[in-house]
Amino acid sequence: MSDLALDAVVDLDVPGPTINRHLYGQFAEHLGRCIYEGFWVGEDSPIPHEGGIRRDVVEALRELRIPNLRWPGGCFADSYHWRDGVGPREDRPRIANVHWGDVVEDNAFGTHEFLALCDLLGTEPYVSANVGSGTVQETADWVEYLTRGDDAPMARLRREHGRDQPWPVTFFGLGNEPWGCGGNLRAEQYASLARLHATYARDTSGNKLQRVAAGANEDDYAWTETLMKQVSKGLGDQDPAPLFQAVSFHYYTIPGSWGGKGSATDFTEGDYWTTMRKAHRVRELIRGHSAVMDAYDPHAKVGLALDEWGTWYDVEPGTEPGFLYQQNTMRDALVAAVHFDAFHDNARRLRLANVAQVVNVLQAMVLTDGSKMLRTPTFHAFAMSAGHQDASVLAVHDVATRSTRGVDGSELPTVSTSASVKDGSVLVSLTNLDPAAPARVRVALRGGSVTLDGATVLAAPEGSGSDDAVRVHNTFDAPDAVAPRDLSSVSVTAGPGGDLLESELPPASFTTVRLTRA
Ligand code: AHR
Repeated sequence: MSDLALDAVVDLDVPGPTINRHLYGQFAEHLGRCIYEGFWVGEDSPIPHEGGIRRDVVEALRELRIPNLRWPGGCFADSYHWRDGVGPREDRPRIANVHWGDVVEDNAFGTHEFLALCDLLGTEPYVSANVGSGTVQETADWVEYLTRGDDAPMARLRREHGRDQPWPVTFFGLGNEPWGCGGNLRAEQYASLARLHATYARDTSGNKLQRVAAGANEDDYAWTETLMKQVSKGLGDQDPAPLFQAVSFHYYTIPGSWGGKGSATDFTEGDYWTTMRKAHRVRELIRGHSAVMDAYDPHAKVGLALDEWGTWYDVEPGTEPGFLYQQNTMRDALVAAVHFDAFHDNARRLRLANVAQVVNVLQAMVLTDGSKMLRTPTFHAFAMSAGHQDASVLAVHDVATRSTRGVDGSELPTVSTSASVKDGSVLVSLTNLDPAAPARVRVALRGGSVTLDGATVLAAPEGSGSDDAVRVHNTFDAPDAVAPRDLSSVSVTAGPGGDLLESELPPASFTTVRLTRA
């Protein structure tokens, strides 16, 4: 019996599928303080900004190399009429945000502002259309407004509003959660609507849209099957492209239940382990939806998109319930790390993922308070993982049973890992979920030799107790309580069968090891 938490082999010369960079996507909805305050402070704000978009948030987020940003929702998307958000700001109508806090918005942030934000972030847009309460004509017009280069009516309107060139738009969502806030539709009803909107969301002026059909809630595999039946015409080898290029599903990690989700910061060790068990479930869900898709699309022409994921807790005490503002601890960073490993292992089918949400909402990357801003532990987990984007998966084969812990009747591995290679750079992610004990890991690297460039760990400050190890978080008074640091306990030694990577991972930690192939 090994005393190692992880004893594994990685074949450096057997690269697997590419980890699509879009698995590291983000989500920005008109919800609480995400768009307004989180990004948009307006042109008259004393907070430093670029055309009304706050500079500190943009500069921080650029560190993440965000590949795509989903907007305007979420539930908001299916009540949003894009024409309300273009043209002179003083002429834009006010609207009620009926989903989130029932607040009235002035539409200061619309299509042009979103695309300007994408430019500032260096990210690709993922625009979600209104299928629930909008018309097919609205969808067609929005695509024409966004992407058409000639003098078609919507392109002319865009020019009247000050933008000559069309924008390159990568992803186009066909509604959101149609089984719920997006219309309470049955799968068959939605499938017909999605076909209609997809047909009129045309590729123009050289722009090629990736149309994302709004998919299932959690393990509703029947929903995925209904959608796949609709797109299967055209999926054979000789057939033209499918109507949708991706089918999505949503899964949130909620420690409690929808009625009482639990606190973001005040939780027991039992709550912690339950959270980890639920985070691990994402792997089973990705595999379940992928298996359904395999049956209809064996060549994997249609991608799976997990375009909403993350932790969802009770809101911070004293904040508006509809604004979904929550703190973010080391527990959240570990939830993210568990998701990344599941994404990498399923990279053949999973092509897009969007954490909910980027600023001030749910599992956020940054939090703001007036002119102040902080990076959350989740931010750091994303930053440390950016090197996996567009790299090839290196499978991690266990050679001994990973250490596990019984949680709610099932055995949960206490160590999670994945690896990738790109242009000779190898990145290994190692997560120790145990808040009470370090984990010893040994990974044999076969099929080539490597040099160690360095290792970074995200964990509570050394000497923290097991409660603090997972509850530690950044505040506006102590914004760097949790921040990445170098990990010196990592070594690479040459062995008879190849190099050997060994490390001791601190309790409740996320580590990335950087290697270069010799
Ligand atoms: O991310 C918050 C909300 O969660 C989204 O608007 C909705 O799609 C989901 O239910």
